[in-house]
Amino acid sequence: MSVKILGTGSFLPESVVTNDFLSTIMDTSDEWISSRTGIKARHLVKKETTTQMSVEAAKNALLDAGIQAAELDLIIVGTITGDDITPSTACEVQAAIGAKAAVAFDINAACSGFMFAMHSAYAYLQSGIYQNALIIGAETLSRIMDWNDRSTCVLFGDGAGAAVLGAGQGGILGFEQGSDGVKGSVLACRARANSNPLVQENPETDYVHMDGQEVYKFAVTTVPASIERVLEKAQVGTEEIKYFLLHQANIRIIQSVAKRLHAPMEKFPISLDHCGNISAASIPILLDEVNKKGMLEEGDKIVMSGFGGGLTWGTCILEW
Ligand code: ACO
Repeated sequence: MSVKILGTGSFLPESVVTNDFLSTIMDTSDEWISSRTGIKARHLVKKETTTQMSVEAAKNALLDAGIQAAELDLIIVGTITGDDITPSTACEVQAAIGAKAAVAFDINAACSGFMFAMHSAYAYLQSGIYQNALIIGAETLSRIMDWNDRSTCVLFGDGAGAAVLGAGQGGILGFEQGSDGVKGSVLACRARANSNPLVQENPETDYVHMDGQEVYKFAVTTVPASIERVLEKAQVGTEEIKYFLLHQANIRIIQSVAKRLHAPMEKFPISLDHCGNISAASIPILLDEVNKKGMLEEGDKIVMSGFGGGLTWGTCILEW
């Protein structure tokens, strides 16, 4: 059986925060942010939650796929910013959309979260255990940013994207994923303190901190190498790929990957200019934009590649 994307959906919070607005509340400028990252604006939540955004993206994807929530066997959400520690975002989505027959759980793989969700769903579907899966990448990153740290808070945004997977022609032709926990500290957000009577930890909340240059080096070496391995395994040439949908971290990373693959930038659609970096949500939001703009035709081959905290990375090639 081939496992195909049957439909896509996304949701962005209503409020748009431009670089110019940020420059009125902190020592930064549109010139600094856009020249280094390509980001011009991002959507930030006011009242929206990770679960609510996931539900809206899921409903859009189900509508696009022509699948009822009751037909879903599996829901996986890639997120590092679920509203609660438990229940999982996936269980909250299951309840909200009425997917009574589905098993639901979250995956924590930061910016690779959607790719890991897709590959996990693929394994279940390919083996015949389940038939229809809903996969979501959703983040409220503004909640884990230090808004006094201009070097990180200007980079990220909030939102959710979703896809429905099921049986079909073509579909996923190959994938790979990897992790390098040894380098985990270059991009981290440490957990809450333990206040049990045996330990006296500092109760301060941590926020995202990042060694931007190390993350950059990791991305520009790991991502093109991963894409090349996946293409080689699937015996598909770079020139046969219509679009490369990369995690939307930074335009410079995407330009470097394009150069290393000898592929033109026109093959790399961009959403980071208006969304910023939305970690696990960035690839499914971009995919939905590309799909809804009618840029994909049946038989087109695309590559998706996510990379980020953990460190983690995941790449897949599929036929639309
Ligand atoms: N506005 C103005 N000045 C700033 C800002 C800001 N928002 N942020 C930092 N600066 C200043 C710094 O204070 C520093 O000033 P100094 O020289 O006086 O000390 C100067 O700009 C340079 O700071 P760096 O941190 O060295 O900036 P760099 O040139 O490395 O650019 C960036 C930072 C864009 C994040 C870069 O490291 C990069 O592209 N990294 C790639 C990784 C990435 O994009 N991560 C995103 C998330 S991770 C992921 O999704 C996988």
